[in-house]
Amino acid sequence: MKPRDRLRIAMQKSGRLTEPALDLLNRCGLTFRQSRDKLFCFGEGEPVDLLLVRDDDIPGLIAQGVCELGIVGRNVLNEFKGGAGNGAAALTEWRSLGFGRCRLSVAVPQEMDYNEPKDLAGLRIATSYPGLLGIWLREQGVDASVITLAGSVEIAPKLGTADVICDLVQSGGTLVANQLRETDVLLQSEAVLAGPETLPTDERGDMVELLLKRLDGVIQVRE
Ligand code: PRP
Ligand code: ZN
Ligand code: MG
Repeated sequence: MKPRDRLRIAMQKSGRLTEPALDLLNRCGLTFRQSRDKLFCFGEGEPVDLLLVRDDDIPGLIAQGVCELGIVGRNVLNEFKGGAGNGAAALTEWRSLGFGRCRLSVAVPQEMDYNEPKDLAGLRIATSYPGLLGIWLREQGVDASVITLAGSVEIAPKLGTADVICDLVQSGGTLVANQLRETDVLLQSEAVLAGPETLPTDERGDMVELLLKRLDGVIQVRE
């Protein structure tokens, strides 16, 4: 890969994290030239550019060295780290950012008899987080079948394609709308600044350090 001197930050192209992520970068003194419907935003002042991508792709882009940093949910980062075949990628949370708070939880049909994780034995669990769910099930010593769906997980029990689900909960509105009840929290999540454990030793590394310093100032002011 051609060496770059400009830092690249990946963030969600459109979704719940987009607005607050951009706002945070602006507060850190970073402004970008392109409008947001473009996939690449050129940084105006500092040598920092933006990649606008699917949030699920962000950890992989960092692991491949396509970008140095990413603003992404801890859920997505940890799923990547825990998923099969990603063992080599040493990614870390440089900062937690205080927005996009949600949790990854198991939820069961309201009328289902459920007391403890053991009650999930033999059931079909629909999720977009097979890695994290698999780790939790092993910890609990529960043998269940994991059904991976890309989205609209909450409707699976009604469709009969799964018995229970494991998905993100923010307000709880989606669970209520689908007559599901939250039973176990697997992960407390929020947006984080993710990056490789070892930063580049060139100008980009210096820029990351400067950015972290500014970020700490901005986060402190907000708290
Ligand atoms: C997310 C998540 C839940 C829902 C939780 O889905 O997957 O379904 O939000 O939010 P709530 O508790 O406030 O209802 P999203 O709408 O982002 O779409 P997706 O599932 O297609 O990613
Ligand atoms: Zn996503
Ligand atoms: Mg959803």
